[in-house]
Amino acid sequence: MELSEAGLPKAQVEAMTKRETDRYLQSNPISQKLGQEARRNWIKGVPHHWMLDWSTPFPLFVADAKGATLTDADGHTYDDFCLGDTGSMFGHSPEPVAKAIAAQSSHGLTYMLPTEDIIAVGSLLENMFGLPFWQVTTTATDSNRFVIRWCRAITKRTKVLVFHGAYHGAVDDTFVRMKNGRAIHRPGLIGQVYDLTTHTKVVEFNDVPALEAALKDQDVACVITEPALTNIGMVLPQPGFLDALQSLCKKTGTLLVIDETHTISTGFGGYTRTHHLKPDFLTLGKPVAGGLPTAVFGCTADIAERMRAAEKEAGPGYSGMGTTLSANALQFKAMRANLEHVMTPAAYAHMLPLSEKLARGIEGEIKKRNIPWHVSNVGARAEFVCAPERPRNGTEAQAAMHGPVELAVHLYLLNRGLLIAPFHNMTLVSPVTTEAQVARLVTTIGQCLDELAA
Ligand SMILES: Cc1ncc(COP(=O)(O)O)c(C=O)c1O
Repeated sequence: MELSEAGLPKAQVEAMTKRETDRYLQSNPISQKLGQEARRNWIKGVPHHWMLDWSTPFPLFVADAKGATLTDADGHTYDDFCLGDTGSMFGHSPEPVAKAIAAQSSHGLTYMLPTEDIIAVGSLLENMFGLPFWQVTTTATDSNRFVIRWCRAITKRTKVLVFHGAYHGAVDDTFVRMKNGRAIHRPGLIGQVYDLTTHTKVVEFNDVPALEAALKDQDVACVITEPALTNIGMVLPQPGFLDALQSLCKKTGTLLVIDETHTISTGFGGYTRTHHLKPDFLTLGKPVAGGLPTAVFGCTADIAERMRAAEKEAGPGYSGMGTTLSANALQFKAMRANLEHVMTPAAYAHMLPLSEKLARGIEGEIKKRNIPWHVSNVGARAEFVCAPERPRNGTEAQAAMHGPVELAVHLYLLNRGLLIAPFHNMTLVSPVTTEAQVARLVTTIGQCLDELAA
């Protein structure tokens, strides 16, 4: 029997993909029709190309979403473990956020002036993350881009360092990968006209000697990283790695930027608070305003002082940072409601044990069938990986990705009312996800594996 790379019979994987694709085609006539009509005005039939990254032959059109349940245009309902790939990690349209948005909607949406809410939100952010100074942007991409600019201005160094396999949004400086120990452009980049490797270094996550070598010349303005990589499958930090990262940054005068956009799943205050990290900057987007496009970045008092000095030195003019809609009144209403009532310690008290249950449940189904896969989780975020060993770095994580198998599993789940993130095999548990939803996902993954491994 020919095994696919992920330890399963290739024929079963192909048969499942074909059968589930047919089933999807038959079950979703309205989505199919809308998809065809959308081709008239939208490039490739969608308003944003990521909507084509799902396992389905045409996009699933959404009619409604509430809590951890989504309803499609054909009337099927789904247990949603994708949750907008983290934007709706605390549930779709949480009641306090929905009410706040509705209340603000007839009082002006954006003025380029502050409202009273900024006082409350500033102290909520400080309380959550322990950093005193903040700015608001519209996406995590913007926060990361602006923070890199600040780091360069503060340190007067040009280079940034990222880990192989990292993703920090559509930030040019981070679009590198490592090949044969050297930085290269990330494959597939469009319209890239200048050489990103001139100013960006890349090393493997969990590789302390490589990091030390890359920082020793003291030409790196900042290391930007997630505390656990979550965009190339999941790569957890090995014991001591984040301590080494922090002390190497300190020793070499390199600033440390922790991107908590996904690892906010770890617990209240993200990985940073849970594991007592001390970044110079922290960035967070996606769920911070309950799914309304909003992001923040925070910094220490010392960094704020150095920002002031850098700005003085630059003199009058335009900083290169700013977008008109950032920090608007609607964002603040949503963020305040979200931070006060939704993204709370009580929410995590529900999410974390339930996600643990999900992770261990999936792990149990895998083990029962002796399939050479494993499960990793970072709080409310869990991921099954189609390889036996936990990857230690981006290269190993990439090798653990098995597109054809993942496609079959994703489609099988979707056709049975279960959505997981289209990128690799990520699941999120929200404060309103139920035990029954988790049990359904675990059981259905077991049934899927039964068929695949038969
Ligand atoms: C860790 C991390 N940072 C930043 C971003 C960018 O977020 P956005 O696309 O909302 O700008 C992402 C997106 O997936 C992410 O995973």
